[in-house]
Amino acid sequence: MTKAVDSMQTDASDGEALLSLMETRRSAAVAAIGEPGPDDRQLRRLLTIACRAPDHGALEPWRFILIEGEARADASREVARSYAVEYAAMEPAKLQKFTALMERIFVAAPVAIIVVSSPDPAAKISLFEQELSAGAVCMNLLTAANALGFDANWVTGFAATSAGARALFGVRTHEKVAGVIFLGTAKERPAERKRPDIDAIVSRWTPA
Ligand SMILES: Cc1cc2nc3c(=O)[nH]c(=O)nc-3n(C[C@H](O)[C@H](O)[C@H](O)COP(=O)(O)O)c2cc1C
Repeated sequence: MTKAVDSMQTDASDGEALLSLMETRRSAAVAAIGEPGPDDRQLRRLLTIACRAPDHGALEPWRFILIEGEARADASREVARSYAVEYAAMEPAKLQKFTALMERIFVAAPVAIIVVSSPDPAAKISLFEQELSAGAVCMNLLTAANALGFDANWVTGFAATSAGARALFGVRTHEKVAGVIFLGTAKERPAERKRPDIDAIVSRWTPA
């Protein structure tokens, strides 16, 4: 295989720093993520890194919608309005509580990136593979955000999946929201969470 990129070799110390970040990184609670967020140059860099996700057929089956600045309050208000309509039958106190949460959903974090899985339904590459690529984009975003010193979280929920939110953000029929990535700086670091037991999930195939 020819080496197309000069800098394919990673310096061992760079590699260790990356591995250490990946071994210790944690998502911050969405509610804990506040200012500061990335500036325009940093955000562009993060999005560019995100797009380096493996992508079978080079279809680029994803796109981004940014929610920043004053648009955050508008988006939150509209999502809350949809929530109230969709869950009109909910017990009123509960409905009020969740609607109030929705009214602030995009307000605290400086930026939310909606990663839209936007597959080509006519492509030879399967829908599954195209959707997996959108997941890889999300993970790239999280890792790169942490490497740049920011905190992030990858969520879905009502603002990603409801008919009202889909219409609000212009998510088309063949598309899905792979994730809403909240980005900024967390007030507190979360404790480590339980991690998989590698031995329990790894097996070695042997011929029969
Ligand atoms: C596709 C996807 C959707 C998620 N949606 C939510 C969500 O809606 N709400 C939530 O609390 N966590 C959600 N999570 C989990 C968060 O990302 C969670 O904070 C994460 O598992 C923390 O793990 P980490 O510290 O290893 O990154 C989702 C994760 C994935 C991969």
